[in-house]
Amino acid sequence: MGRAIAASVVYADGTTRRFTDVDAAMRAADGGCVELEYAYAPDAVPEPADPRRGLWRYRGLLPLDPGVVRYPLPVGDTPLLGLPALRAAAGIASLWLKDETRGPTGSNKDRATALVLQDALNRGIATVSCASTGNVAVSLAVGAAAAGKRAVVFVPAGVAEAKLGFMLAAGATVLKVRGGYREAFRLSEWAAAAFGWCSRNTGVNPYAAEAKKTVALEIWEQLGRAVPDVVVVPVGDGVTLSAMAKGFRELVACGAATRMPRLVGVQAEGCQPVKRAWETRLPVTAARASTFADGIAVEAPVCAATAVRDVRRSGGGFVAVSDAEITDAVRTLATRGGVLAEPAGAAAFAGLRPARVAGLVRSSDRVVVLVTGSGLKAPRYLAPARPVIDVPDDREAVRRALGDEAVAR
Ligand SMILES: Cc1ncc(COP(=O)(O)O)c(C=O)c1O
Repeated sequence: MGRAIAASVVYADGTTRRFTDVDAAMRAADGGCVELEYAYAPDAVPEPADPRRGLWRYRGLLPLDPGVVRYPLPVGDTPLLGLPALRAAAGIASLWLKDETRGPTGSNKDRATALVLQDALNRGIATVSCASTGNVAVSLAVGAAAAGKRAVVFVPAGVAEAKLGFMLAAGATVLKVRGGYREAFRLSEWAAAAFGWCSRNTGVNPYAAEAKKTVALEIWEQLGRAVPDVVVVPVGDGVTLSAMAKGFRELVACGAATRMPRLVGVQAEGCQPVKRAWETRLPVTAARASTFADGIAVEAPVCAATAVRDVRRSGGGFVAVSDAEITDAVRTLATRGGVLAEPAGAAAFAGLRPARVAGLVRSSDRVVVLVTGSGLKAPRYLAPARPVIDVPDDREAVRRALGDEAVAR
């Protein structure tokens, strides 16, 4: 059973304070990111024969009280796909997609939602809240509905209509904030403190990163208890990346692995504050967001300092991709990878090319690309790979329309 024994706060300027009292760390956070620590030992990692599935398989490294998990939706256990056509398209023989589009609401946010709601169930908290560019709010709305909790979500005015529809369909209270994600974040933090809700906010609630780190543990198990050479991750607030790093770091701390993968963070060209902080070695400064990849359109990232630290320590780097490159990646994932991704979800795959140019990824590397969000929630970006063929109700017309394709093997 995991129990945090200490916690560190990583502040925006990169300085870190360690506390042996987790509550003291939470009180001192002041906008910094809180990272939990456990008593690392080999038995914190599940044996291959361990029958538990999903996220809860890793409870030795999660802040879970003893007893039955009451959160009802299955989360985790997403596929690691090694697809020949995609490998050929990318020119990397050992390439895998970690397909995080398979959760209850089609994004990697479902992991964090599960652990936060399990905590709310344990503590008897009725209302959970978040600020979100879209996916977190959908995930929390659906998860809260399943867990019998109330979700209050704060979203930017420009939130994607389809995602808004999902939140509302699940019965969440939705507050659309005119000032954008940054203001939505501030207001949701104020409201959670004022009204005694459980905030699921990235960076603020350390359980979000704790849950998200399980993706690294799954990758390691799915590769036969081996660490890949490189993991490529999209970056908005930076939590997904830092959580990935934490998962691998804890495997090393437990003696289950001997090294970390290189981490490559991918941002949108139109919003790259974390990449800039990495390049300049200065604390992150807010950027104006201009990208259609809403999940990574984060102007003032909450966990930039941890993301930059983790990428640097891993020997990796950051790259930026244009919206056109992301569109191309969405198409390639759909036509060669069998994965329908939304723009932010496809950004890491789009980042492979610049990462190779920058020498961060080699064709001989064992590379895992994280696909974080499903295109089913963003259908307008799923561009047709081929035109529709209109035919009359007639067999000869079908033969003529298909031409040589009709007999292609
Ligand atoms: C689909 C998708 N990918 C990537 C991200 C970025 O994750 P993070 O904010 O943890 O960096 C998000 C965040 O909302 C997202 O929705």
